[in-house]
Amino acid sequence: PAPGWTAEADAIVVGSGIAGLTAALELRTHVPRVLLVTKGRLPSGSTVWAQGGIAAALDPSDSPEAHHADTLAAGGGLSDPEAVQVLVTEGPARVRELVARGAVFDKAADGDIALTREGGHRADRIAHAGGDATGAEISRALVAQIEAVRHDPGIEVVENALVLDVLTTADGRACGVTLHVRGTGSRDGVGAVLAPAVVLATGGIGQLFRSSTNPPGATGDGIAAALRAGAVLGDLEFVQFHPTVLWLGTGAKGQLPLISEAVRGEGALLLDVDGHRFMPAVHDMAELAPRDVVAHAIVRQMAATGADNVLLDARHLGREFLRTRFPTINRRLLEVGIDWSEEPVPVAPAQHYHSGGVVTDLDGRSSVEGLYAVGEVACTGVHGANRLASNSLLEGIVFASRAARDIAARFAAGELRPSSPVERAGGSALVAAAARSRIQKVTSAGSGVIRSARSLADVDERLGAVRADAHLASEVVAEPQAAEWETTNVHQVARTLTRAAALREETRGGHYRTDFPKPDDAWRRRVRVWLDGDGVL
Ligand code: SIN
Repeated sequence: PAPGWTAEADAIVVGSGIAGLTAALELRTHVPRVLLVTKGRLPSGSTVWAQGGIAAALDPSDSPEAHHADTLAAGGGLSDPEAVQVLVTEGPARVRELVARGAVFDKAADGDIALTREGGHRADRIAHAGGDATGAEISRALVAQIEAVRHDPGIEVVENALVLDVLTTADGRACGVTLHVRGTGSRDGVGAVLAPAVVLATGGIGQLFRSSTNPPGATGDGIAAALRAGAVLGDLEFVQFHPTVLWLGTGAKGQLPLISEAVRGEGALLLDVDGHRFMPAVHDMAELAPRDVVAHAIVRQMAATGADNVLLDARHLGREFLRTRFPTINRRLLEVGIDWSEEPVPVAPAQHYHSGGVVTDLDGRSSVEGLYAVGEVACTGVHGANRLASNSLLEGIVFASRAARDIAARFAAGELRPSSPVERAGGSALVAAAARSRIQKVTSAGSGVIRSARSLADVDERLGAVRADAHLASEVVAEPQAAEWETTNVHQVARTLTRAAALREETRGGHYRTDFPKPDDAWRRRVRVWLDGDGVL
């Protein structure tokens, strides 16, 4: 739609999780006009829901080299060693910077940051806050910093603003975004903001699936907008399913409560519904094996026992410890009538994280000049086929900070200049909001935790039919609202992810194919996808 208002900035940051907030705070000190756009209110996004923590080699007995080795091992041979090197060597300083910005981490008896363990880590290196409310504390601290400068003319925050598209110049450079703002005054409705640097920090894709730990806003907006702007996407097929999400019955859908991996880090065990502990026979790290290994073992054990869930047994940790170490989880379990000091918790895997996204270099630059991606929306290469636990918040701060510094340097060098957008040919029709649950059902069934050529072809066909469905098309209202644009993004990302998953004929990390059940060395490479000039994948 034609923009009803226009504005200008030097850099636009889209998203207000850890990556977006970090980028905005860093940019503010280097470029004159920063616009921070967020779909909800400050704070929003998945960061506030992060429980377990943030991984960094902070203990003298640990090292970035050991963190590097664990990250590569979890990544199933597909992580980019150079990107991981950046992550693990710059990580500790970025975590200390978070402390300087006011984030309060839990302390050990000696006064240092307390460190725990999670799956795939061979050292205690997970810093946490409020027991199991790490993301909420980091978000609180960063939002407080934004609030403190909010009236500074150098930064503008626009809330309730959905990014619709990335604007591009005739020669394919990013030059701004269009937004749909449910706002007030001069920034209401559809508008355009022009800027030579656009940073996508829009988070994940949980809404592609029936159940996820992600909040409802995780609709893949950044990936979809980047794809439409011509950016290269990568590793889309690697979707991480968290092994221990509270099982609330077969009908449960939407955002489901996470039972942090840190609970297993503190000693909780996985049992099948017959009370048999099954992880020691699967991996030498047992319950603390990398996440994909545990999730797949759970799925197999559920099939073997004919049950819809397994059990997480934390009884031996004791009521007082569980209450104080995991206050959020303890409260949530009591709300649904579970006293986990007395009974094991029913859990099952659910979608949690997207390892792939917009392909970037080590400074967050995408293949589209001027377009950056940081945080979950990005594919920096650090996660490979399976993200190591608690590396996501770390990736968010490390690469957001690098992207901001890159933009600042290029801005100072006069490399980033404002320019005018051209209209993009062939805008696609919107998908009705009413189609969302059908898309989720289809994607979960065929492109979810278990896939095959047949299931993926089925998803592709059914998602194709969603567009052609005249009934749904007629439900797109004359004045599209956020729900239609979001559902269109969900649909586009689901289809793109499904096609990437069909290409990878092997099983690796978060991509599990029943027709190709083993890893294949020929597939030690990244699947990249982009739209050609005709908008074809
Ligand atoms: C958790 O607390 O289990 C989630 C940690 C993560 O996703 O890295």
